[in-house]
Order: sequence, then C-alpha cells, then structure tokens
Amino acid sequence: MQFSYTQDQQDIRAKVREFALTKMEPTSEERDEFERFDRDIFDSIGEFGWSGIPWPQGLGGGGSDFLTYAMVIEELSRVCASTGVMLSVHTSLASWAIHTYGTDAQKQTYLFPMAQGKKLGAYCLTESESGSDAGAMRTTATKEGDAYLLNGSKLFVTNGGEAEVYIVFAITDAQNKSKSCTAFIVEKGMQGLIFGTKENKLGIRSSTTMELRFEDCRVPADNRLGPEGEGFRIAMRSLDGGRIGIAAQATGIGQGALDALVAYQEQYGVRRSELFDASFSEMATHIEGARLLTYQAAWRKSKGLSYGKQAAIAKLFASDMAVKVCLRAVQLCGVWGCLKESKVERYLRDAKVTQIYEGTNEIQRIVISRLLLSETT
Ligand code: CAA
Repeated sequence: MQFSYTQDQQDIRAKVREFALTKMEPTSEERDEFERFDRDIFDSIGEFGWSGIPWPQGLGGGGSDFLTYAMVIEELSRVCASTGVMLSVHTSLASWAIHTYGTDAQKQTYLFPMAQGKKLGAYCLTESESGSDAGAMRTTATKEGDAYLLNGSKLFVTNGGEAEVYIVFAITDAQNKSKSCTAFIVEKGMQGLIFGTKENKLGIRSSTTMELRFEDCRVPADNRLGPEGEGFRIAMRSLDGGRIGIAAQATGIGQGALDALVAYQEQYGVRRSELFDASFSEMATHIEGARLLTYQAAWRKSKGLSYGKQAAIAKLFASDMAVKVCLRAVQLCGVWGCLKESKVERYLRDAKVTQIYEGTNEIQRIVISRLLLSETT
C-alpha cells in the first residue's frame, strides 16, 4: 500500500484549486441564485485537459487515472458542487459508457470531442415511473430500417439541454424490460429529441436538471451503444463508476464547508473554545475518512480491480458525511450560517442531493449488502 500522491497529482490539484478560486468562486453565489449554467467553465476545464482525464491521449484524453479524476472533482466541488456534478456525469457516466462499449467510430465521433471539452455529455436513465427501480423503464426503441425510433421521456437529466451527447436507455421489448434494455447515443439536434422543463432545485442550482422527451426520435442504428439487451448492465456499470464521482463531490462539499467555517472564525474573530476545537477535529476526521474511501474506490478502478462495492460504500459514507458536516458548520456559524454570504448554507443545500442521486443511499445499502453476500456465498 502506498499513501502518497505523484508529482502530477499534486500539480493538478494545485492548478484546479487555483482555477476554482479565481474563475469559479467569484460567480458561485450569483450562479446559484439565478440557476445560471456557465458554459465558459466547462470550456476552460476542457482547455486545461480535465474533461477527459482518465481516457487515453489517442482518444483526446489526459492519459491519467481515476484517482486523479476523483481529486479534480473533489477540488472543483470544494468551491462549486454544481461544477463537480457537471463534470462527474460527463466523465463517469457518459464518456465512460462510450469508452467502454463504443465502436471505434463512436469513440472518434463522440468520445474524442467530449474528452477535449468540445462536447458535453449526459446520461438518461430515470423516468417518472422508474427511479430506484431502474429496470421498470418505459421508454421504447423500435427498430425501423437502419434506425431506431425512440419514444418516451426521461427525468432529472443532469446537463440536460446544455449537453450535446446523451446516453439514453430504452427497451425494445415491453414484455421483457430489463433483458431488452438497450443503450443509445443521442445527439442534441436529432429530430424528435425535445427538451422539457428545467427543474428549480434546492441545491446544485447552477447545474441544469431537465426533462427530455423522445417523440419518434430517429437514432441511427450506428448509434446503438453495445449490443441490444446489454443496456441495463451498461447503466448499472456506469453508475458503479458514477458513484466514485459523487463520493468525490461530497468530499469536496464537506471540505468546502469546513473551509468556510474556518474563514468565519477568522473573519469575525470568534474566540476558540473547546466546542469549536472538538467540532473542527471531528469534521476533519469524517472528511478524511470519506476521502480515503473515495480514493480507494478510484484507485481500484484505475488498477482494473472490482470497485462496485467500494464505490457504493464511498458514496454512502461521503454523502452522509457531507450533510452532517454542513449542518454542523451552519450551526456553529449561528445566524450568519443561514445567510447567503456565509457560503455554508449553499454547501448544505448542495450536500443533500448527494444522498439521493446516482442511487439513493437506501439503494447503496442494497448494492453493498448484495455484493458482500455474493463474496461470502
Ligand atoms: N454491474 C453489472 N451488471 C449488473 C450490475 C452492475 N453493477 N448491477 C446489476 N447488474 C445486472 C445483474 O447481474 C442482472 O443481470 P442478469 O439478469 O443477467 O442476472 C441484471 O443487471 C439485473 O440486476 P438486478 O436483478 O440486481 O436488478 P434489480 O432490478 O434488482 O435492481 C438496483 C438493482 C441496484 C436496485 C438498480 O435498479 C439500481 O441501481 N437502481 C438505482 C438507479 C439509480 O442509481 N438511478 C440513478 C439515476 S442517474 C442519476 O442520478 C444521474 C445524474 O444525472 C446525477
């Protein structure tokens, strides 16, 4: 075991920190207030080479690993959790699926520009009648000549409306839903892809969350991702990795709340007390625990080891940690902690959804216990 960072990892963390503080922090409150998605931030992330960190350089990526990627998500989220989830969904869910299941042509057409930050990705699984029970989806894909016609709708699509590339899951046989689930790459601008309502949210307000409708949306058969019937597995495997991104996001939120609490103490000259010392150290301990679990899952993914269980554990622990740490930070800041200027109120609002998306923490418990039991039987 080795608990040290490479020079590259230290350099990239420092660069991301500087970028987040100088380019994201000044507008974070206004973007949150007005739910403003800022495409310039994604463009800059692309220019720095952080929009495709784990993918090979030949595919437009950074040729690095998932641990470095997790560190980047954490540092972005430490300042702006909306940016963290935007990049996490783009990388862990959308780009990963194309990198793992895409044909050479699909990688050139979609993954390359995504890794370069020229195209943003999104992932469309949830529907009005299928949230936690993802296999109950109703969106259909009907083969017609050299294309599929997609009909149905998807809810709560992160990056919806802003993304150019959508990984969409649909069934080809209503009698045999999860066995016929198939993944497709749908491009913004394809006929029959309709952007619906943009959600007005509690937190991560400067990321977009949107409903998508498919009305005889004609998707070329060449845009099918993986074989017919493989979609549910692709969706589940994508989420295994996605949960590392959310765990990193939650770790960053917790760290950001602690940073804000320290700044509050310094700005207002709050007298240090045993209560403050005990709270700081407890918060820092929980953040460090979440960080180590997250990095372990990311490291295993980079090494080609199984990581589904570790990712679910990291997501469960880190998201619960983020909510607890943010609540504590608000409490310790008193009334100031309830004001916009304190920042901790935004961190608290942003933290909540990490316990919900990419599988609620109730689902994480099911995933963890199933994997634990399968190891012992
Ligand atoms: N990797 C590979 N295959 C997997 C898998 C995984 N992690 N999990 C399940 N599978 C396979 C199973 O092996 C099984 O295959 P066979 O039929 O060949 O045996 C098949 O998929 C069905 O698996 P289950 O029987 O376990 O499926 P289930 O219906 O019991 O559901 C579940 C399992 C874990 C509850 C799943 O429905 C689930 O994860 N739900 C949560 C969905 C979710 O996380 N949604 C998040 C939405 S996306 C989002 O939030 C993104 C965003 O924008 C931020």
